[in-house]
Amino acid sequence: MPADISATAAGAWKLGDLTVNRLGFGAMRITANPDREVAIRVLRKAVELGVNHLDTAAFYRSPGGTLGVGEGPVRFANELIREALSPYPEDLVITTKVGPGVDERGFYNATTPAELRSQVEENLRQLGRDHLDVVNLRIMKKPGESISDRFGWLAELREAGLIRHLGISNVRPEHLDEAQAIAPVVCVQNSYAIDTHREDDTFLPLCGERGVAYVPFFAIAGAERESGPTVDHTKALEALAAAHNATPAQIRLAWTLHQGDHVLAIPGTGNPAHLEVNIAAGALKLTTEELATLG
Ligand SMILES: NC(=O)c1ccc[n+]([C@@H]2O[C@H](COP(=O)([O-])OP(=O)(O)OC[C@H]3O[C@@H](n4cnc5c(N)ncnc54)[C@H](OP(=O)(O)O)[C@@H]3O)[C@@H](O)[C@H]2O)c1
Repeated sequence: MPADISATAAGAWKLGDLTVNRLGFGAMRITANPDREVAIRVLRKAVELGVNHLDTAAFYRSPGGTLGVGEGPVRFANELIREALSPYPEDLVITTKVGPGVDERGFYNATTPAELRSQVEENLRQLGRDHLDVVNLRIMKKPGESISDRFGWLAELREAGLIRHLGISNVRPEHLDEAQAIAPVVCVQNSYAIDTHREDDTFLPLCGERGVAYVPFFAIAGAERESGPTVDHTKALEALAAAHNATPAQIRLAWTLHQGDHVLAIPGTGNPAHLEVNIAAGALKLTTEELATLG
């Protein structure tokens, strides 16, 4: 592992007026370990190594959150972020998502302005902020689902100063059209990896043409999704990893970052060693021929 690992190696992108390094960090995994000191160490180390784009959600919590794992007292990702990093560095951009929520009813999806506002306020409270840098509207992508109403309500909260920039998540191109007719969109966050959800092969460049960041999740997990990292790598990927003295996870991240300057990586981990490996992947350069072998 090089001694000078830095999240700056893969370059930067602007989310509206906020500049972020393309190699960021996803906070969904930091609640999995009951040892909160480890989570705090991972978050501080990420920032120390140049990460200035964190992805989170108020419903990232253990036990009982998205991952449904863990034991002991409830640990919220947002509260760990606050404990680890507040007062926040000036260049730190925290992206969160609303739509799904957890309350005394269990998981629910916000369908009213009041529910969305309360999710925004919950993020503000947990993070200890007076506004949120970027908020994604995360939908369930049911057939024919429109986002106009919900995105419009979030646009009103943006106008009111609670949100700086808006994005959308788990969406199709028609949702980007709908959202952009209402307010500026700085990012699209979808599930996409070298071997999953390649239906976004045309959506990804479309985002680039419109100056919108494309932020894939599950780049390492692939088809295993919440369960953990996939080990189902092609021979070509394993060969490339060996040739670069890298791990398959690093090649997956490098492939992600090579899909366009507007593509931002947000690998998630609660493991300090994986964090360094993932940030180091930002410096991996793959040739056109190598990318072609990966398909
Ligand atoms: N918008 C949405 O609907 C949505 C949905 C899901 C996730 N997200 C966001 O996207 C982020 C990324 O997704 P993700 O965290 O689920 O998936 P990921 O980054 O693709 O993979 C994370 C999984 O891989 C493991 N891992 C991480 N680095 C590794 C390495 N170098 N070598 C081996 N294993 C490694 C992690 O376990 P360890 O902890 O043991 O390292 C974890 O099990 C999330 O953290 C979250 O912020 C958004």
